[in-house]
Amino acid sequence: MLRSKIRRMTLIDPVLLKARLASLAGRFDVDALDECDSTSSELMRRAERGAPSGSVVVADRQSAGRGRRGRSWLSSPESSLTFSLLWRFPGNAASLSGLSLAVGVGLAQAMENLGAKGVCLKWPNDVLLRSGDDFAKLAGILIELSSDRRGTQAIIGIGLNLAPPTGDLPQPAAGLSQACPQPIDRHDVLAAILGQLAAVLDTFTVNRFFGLKMKWQQYHAWQDQAVQILGDGVDPKRGRCLGVDDDGALLLETAAGIERIFSGDVSLRRA
Ligand code: BTN
Repeated sequence: MLRSKIRRMTLIDPVLLKARLASLAGRFDVDALDECDSTSSELMRRAERGAPSGSVVVADRQSAGRGRRGRSWLSSPESSLTFSLLWRFPGNAASLSGLSLAVGVGLAQAMENLGAKGVCLKWPNDVLLRSGDDFAKLAGILIELSSDRRGTQAIIGIGLNLAPPTGDLPQPAAGLSQACPQPIDRHDVLAAILGQLAAVLDTFTVNRFFGLKMKWQQYHAWQDQAVQILGDGVDPKRGRCLGVDDDGALLLETAAGIERIFSGDVSLRRA
């Protein structure tokens, strides 16, 4: 029996996206799916089968979207953009410290280029929208690395709220539509992000995070402010946030001196 597989129209049309990517189109191989478990899991499977650097999987729906720290990532097709990008680097995973911060810089720059105002970064890898004294999460980044003798592959997973999410959320969340004066088209958003990611990943390949540190600090939500850092099973650390070092570690000035922080959840301490 002849079975035909009819593919539903996805919210991203690769032909339109290619036109938006213009001269950068050759650097990406984009597949748009109606649904998958997780774009990062799907891309990881494709990477194992030899998918090239620059492969992108974008999906309208994820049945098992993954967030950082083992959390799940929920998104709804119309109001979000969920995709993963495969990028290969020479060298081992240890040489890629600060990669997630570099990706944050690319996202923030892309949103600014789309006209967004108030976009900033929270260490290590959240994109926030500032509104007065309040901050809400616009996008999350999940990077998964694996190395072999040829180098290291990064699966860069990005979940961006195009419209503010509704429902019971673990933290305040915002949508890109709130930051942009004009209505935004998801093809323009994805093309702007991929374009900026190509630029920051090229810089990162040559100069590592050192080449992007100043830019990151310009976007840093709480540069030079009083913060606290919550870690699993340890007392909160309090101090003034001095920014990040060349490896992307957070620099916290405390009574005991400057500490390098490698993990934890940072929040602002209001006076
Ligand atoms: C975070 O917890 O802040 C990171 C969230 C990353 C979610 C994205 S959505 C696309 C890609 N696929 C996944 O399963 N996760 C990432």
